[in-house]
Amino acid sequence: MAVSASKLPPGPKGYPLLGNMLGYARDPLGFLTRCSREYGDVVRLRFPGTLAYLFTHPDHVEQVLVKNNRNFIKDKYTRTELSVLGNGLLINEGHSWRRQRRLAQPAFHRRRVEAYGETMVGFAERLLEGWQDGEIRDVHREMMRLTLEIVAKTLLDADIAREAEGVGEALGEIMNYFSDEGSGSFLRMLPESVPIPAKLRYRRAVRRLDRIIYSIIDERRRSGADTGDLLSMLLHAEDEDGNRMDPKQLRDEVMTVVLAGHETTAIALSWTFYLLGENPDIEAKLTAELEEVLDRRAPSVRDLPRLRYADAVIKESMRLYPPAWAIGREALGECEIGGYHVPTKTQMFISQHVTHRDPRFFDDPDAFDPSRWHDGRTEDLPAYAYFPFGGGPRLCIGTNFARMEAVLLLATVAREFQLEPVTGDPPVPQPSITLRPRGGIRMKLSKRRAARHREPVERSER
Ligand code: HEM
Repeated sequence: MAVSASKLPPGPKGYPLLGNMLGYARDPLGFLTRCSREYGDVVRLRFPGTLAYLFTHPDHVEQVLVKNNRNFIKDKYTRTELSVLGNGLLINEGHSWRRQRRLAQPAFHRRRVEAYGETMVGFAERLLEGWQDGEIRDVHREMMRLTLEIVAKTLLDADIAREAEGVGEALGEIMNYFSDEGSGSFLRMLPESVPIPAKLRYRRAVRRLDRIIYSIIDERRRSGADTGDLLSMLLHAEDEDGNRMDPKQLRDEVMTVVLAGHETTAIALSWTFYLLGENPDIEAKLTAELEEVLDRRAPSVRDLPRLRYADAVIKESMRLYPPAWAIGREALGECEIGGYHVPTKTQMFISQHVTHRDPRFFDDPDAFDPSRWHDGRTEDLPAYAYFPFGGGPRLCIGTNFARMEAVLLLATVAREFQLEPVTGDPPVPQPSITLRPRGGIRMKLSKRRAARHREPVERSER
């Protein structure tokens, strides 16, 4: 790309030495939103020893993710925060990334993904067997468990129910460590050798996840079975020289799909149930569609084309609370974007959270309004005004998987239970690697009268 611009974009000055660190660490979502509204589409941010830009205009997002993608790699913060994923698909680059992506892709083809539908609904129904009318549960925790079981079964043919608690705790520890608010950002800047308790807890959490992932891989290796799932594809793949994937790379790929493949969808569903609970008119419209399309039976993949409102509910929920709330890149070479000079090694921020709520593209941007996706209001949106799954060559490999899973699980749960928030305080988003609801979302479960009768099931572990 020709570079003619020499000017740098405007941005907040911040404090001596720390730059914008404090403002960002205190409230990342609010800080980035304010920067974009105050300084424009390209904002210069100052972090210690680092030049960083925030891009929020859809055309610039497209330039970074798609049109000029070869000039960018994952940014240095992503590489650190996702180090638990090693060199798996999310972090890998270049020739090695292309090879690994080609290897994994067949497990995510539309046909293949459709075959997972029955398993997804089956696990959701099993979860509901343990839910009682009038009970209060943390829906985020429930969804994390459910989507973890689903990703493990569909892609690795593993039954992970017994480990769900351990994975949940370890992941919580990792997310807290990388939560950008509070003192986390500062503590992480200390040298590796300084043994602060948070760092020790983080390392323990990674070791705990490692044990679970290696035991899934070892079990499959021992059985020698080729079940045709993603794990088999990875285990049996050979490179041009006939070599198998080394154990560490295999661990990194499995860890990546397990973590990337359940946390995000669980978050999308958690925020969706909260938003529905706060908006009874929208919830009633969804229920009416479920009754009409499903007529009291469980949903299946064949119903998806008719579950249009359910699809819009998920889409709108991910507009307001994008589970992946920001994407980062680093410039390999200098370039020009939006009339500004981007020097080599600039750290680039793109934030779904900021762009998805831009009033230039979405009217009444903070309102939860699924109808906007059907009534023509979003027809002329620029391509990258809405991008919960990213875009370009690094587009989320699980896009079809996640979209289908989210609608099927929403339909399965919402046709049987109504969920109401139990406190008046809205849950607070925790902008870590993902956008979890801090402390979960406690909701009261009310069984719908029209729902199919179930025998009460005694489940002490829930
Ligand atoms: C609502 C659910 C999901 C959301 C919002 C989401 C979001 C994203 C985003 C934004 C990226 C691109 C990151 C970047 O460009 O830096 C990504 C990449 C990725 N996602 Fe997802 N994801 C979801 C579900 C899933 C699922 C279900 C899986 C697997 C089963 C998955 C596996 C991955 C992998 C492996 C990558 C890296 C792909 C590559 O770089 O080749 N994700 N995801």
